[in-house]
Amino acid sequence: MVAMTATAEEEAMDTLTALSGSPTQPMGAYPGPTKLLIDGKWVDAASGKTFETRNPATGELLARVAEGDAEDIKRAVAAARRAFNGPWSRMKPNERQLLLLKLADIIDKNMEELALLDTLDMGGPLSRTRNNRQRALGMLRYYAGMATSVHGETINNSLPGDIFSYTLKEPVGVVGAIIPWNGPLTASIWKIGPALATGCTVVLKPAEEAPLTSLRLGELCLEAGVPPGVVNVVPGYGETAGAALSSHPDVDKVAFTGSHLTGQKIIQASAGNLKRVSLELGGKSPDIVFADADLDAAVSGASMAVFANSGQICSAGTRLFVERKVYDEFTEKVAAYGRNLKVGDGRDPEVQVGPLVSAEQLERVTGYLAVGQKEGAKALSGGARLTEGNMGKGYFVPPTVFANVRDDMRIAQEEIFGPVISAIPFTDVDEVIQRGNATTFGLGSGVWTRDVSKAHRLARAIRAGSVWVNCYQAMDPAVPFGGYKMSGYGRESGLQHVEEYLNVKAVWIKTA
Ligand code: NAI
Ligand code: MG
Repeated sequence: MVAMTATAEEEAMDTLTALSGSPTQPMGAYPGPTKLLIDGKWVDAASGKTFETRNPATGELLARVAEGDAEDIKRAVAAARRAFNGPWSRMKPNERQLLLLKLADIIDKNMEELALLDTLDMGGPLSRTRNNRQRALGMLRYYAGMATSVHGETINNSLPGDIFSYTLKEPVGVVGAIIPWNGPLTASIWKIGPALATGCTVVLKPAEEAPLTSLRLGELCLEAGVPPGVVNVVPGYGETAGAALSSHPDVDKVAFTGSHLTGQKIIQASAGNLKRVSLELGGKSPDIVFADADLDAAVSGASMAVFANSGQICSAGTRLFVERKVYDEFTEKVAAYGRNLKVGDGRDPEVQVGPLVSAEQLERVTGYLAVGQKEGAKALSGGARLTEGNMGKGYFVPPTVFANVRDDMRIAQEEIFGPVISAIPFTDVDEVIQRGNATTFGLGSGVWTRDVSKAHRLARAIRAGSVWVNCYQAMDPAVPFGGYKMSGYGRESGLQHVEEYLNVKAVWIKTA
């Protein structure tokens, strides 16, 4: 699928659509890239090993993908280093800008295919993956703008005599990017975009559960003219490929998104060469609904803050605090909202909630459903895996709302990463601030109120990287996103994101 005309692109899309089957038809052989992308070439793993990736809606095999491990990471890092030392990092900013703009146009043309790939590989419904268009293109075009905006400063110093000082901003070097499976297209772009803008090179390790979109994105990077070795894509397992990348002595920075437990290992692995690390980890975000809010807007907002992507979103508002006087009415409405969402195979464009990504994730989420019931919470909706018809072949959990949740229950403390809301009553502002903050995490948070003073007060008091007032999960390439506490450090999006990929050098010039 390289260098295609418009018609060839349409044909490729038709082929993928035909091969991808439908909710009732089996899938054929996957036509896209399944090898490792190293130094601009598609290669087998050094070990010759491959692993399976499956459609979580049906359990069907999508493709066998080359399984990279330490040896392949070594080759990819060497390629990335050569590319970094070559003409790439000296390319003019406007050339990198044009490259990013071109990549955005190519992704625009191929968006339908990329959306379908995400849907097939990780289960997110087309109704969602198609809507990633604006986010994907917006990010690339934002970073394109940043490519020509990087600059140092002239700084007045107080030393005697004439000595001039200024700073240079330089690309940090070879970046190891490790991403999870919950949004392969946008997660890949979120790591590759700032690298291309600043002149870094990348080894991207997609999640073993969903590697196909990242590989296809690698192919599109080549089509856009990204030089060999600048973007390398090495699928493989976390314990092997991921660990090798995060401990590699010639990697300058690791940009990681995933669980806090793996984040801790990444920090340990980084110690060998003190590489820079940025971490976007999980959460147990409070979403706080006051009785004075526009409750209808809050019902859909609070529901989709968790049910979107089957709850597989790091900043999902899973601790739903509801003011006691509207608690029963509100939680019942959220449960009803959840019951009305269409759950199923994401290839059906009407479906709003797809399957969980894997059997492992299904086990984890249904485990929490059992824990919640055992702890004394009451499932107002959902509460058990769906198995009717073909659903038994996939990993479907319906939108679930637990009422009677206490702060000390595991379902109120631990990240479930499924479509599960823990609804907790509260009575006053000070109390909900204290309880909302009583978590080891601090990624997202929501506040629903018509009282502007209350909104401002909570916006300051909540210890989290994002506070959404009368909305949830708003994201923009220019607005920083990231964690407090165990949700990680570093920011993605915004000026600070670009800084994460830059070194600052001070230059002194004695002129007299
Ligand atoms: P994970 O954090 O283990 O995996 C994320 C990425 O890290 C994958 O590419 C994986 O291959 C890689 N990885 C795993 N172990 C590694 C290691 N030792 N060194 C380097 N890289 C490594 O998350 P996983 O296993 O997919 O999911 C487990 C739980 O983590 C989920 O149920 C969820 O609660 C949470 N999670 C949170 C995410 C978020 O965005 N906050 C994303 C994915 C998972
Ligand atoms: Mg893992």
